[in-house]
Amino acid sequence: MKPFAGTSNNLSRMIPWSHDLLTEVVSPGDFAVDLTAGRGQDTLALWRMVGEQGRVVAFDVQQDALRQTQQRLQEAGAAVRMVDQDQPPLTVQPGVDLLNCCHSRYAEVIAGTPTAIIANLGYLPGSDQQLITESETTLDALRQALGGLAVGGRLAVVVYPGHAGGAEEATSVDCFFSILDSSNYSVLQLQLPNRTQAPGLYVAEKRTEIRRG
Ligand SMILES: C[S@@+](CC[C@H](N)C(=O)[O-])C[C@H]1O[C@@H](n2cnc3c(N)ncnc32)[C@H](O)[C@@H]1O
Repeated sequence: MKPFAGTSNNLSRMIPWSHDLLTEVVSPGDFAVDLTAGRGQDTLALWRMVGEQGRVVAFDVQQDALRQTQQRLQEAGAAVRMVDQDQPPLTVQPGVDLLNCCHSRYAEVIAGTPTAIIANLGYLPGSDQQLITESETTLDALRQALGGLAVGGRLAVVVYPGHAGGAEEATSVDCFFSILDSSNYSVLQLQLPNRTQAPGLYVAEKRTEIRRG
């Protein structure tokens, strides 16, 4: 068990908390997935967790966001591949695959069992604020991502109730995690009860392989 990374120097900052909680379960050489690449802050954090022998796949519907992620990761020394949505299946080489497609296509394009998955929802600051993650596709992606997670792996989701459409999505995500079977998943929620519009964090850990049928 790794020591707690302890980088969250401000209680209200959910992104450092999410990285700390994922770092605890990721080992070098692992596979990790970012459902919303944006400018690549989270993709980079995942790549640092899995290391040069590991593998990260990141989704985004905005090509421009993926270009920014590509630049950030390449500057950090990662091998980055841009993958067109019509090109899967993905390779299983170490490095980072950037997918220009909706995260609701998760099961179609992801092979392998990640130990860490992150979704930082909402809109990309400084870009089109109308282009937000939407409840229906978000829940679709979360369901598939949770199904594909390795036993002992974690799924972290940061929600933003403050923008138009954000409160509805945050409520849907809350319902999604609230009804997960506790014998299969442990779920942690971090929120600021005295700031209702502030971002919140959910982290689910898969305890056992779920058998169906
Ligand atoms: C809050 S930003 C992500 C921030 C990012 N993780 C970072 O480190 O900079 C949300 C991102 O989700 C993307 N997005 C919105 N809908 C999506 C979808 N259906 N599938 C994949 N990405 C989506 C947006 O284009 C935007 O870049």
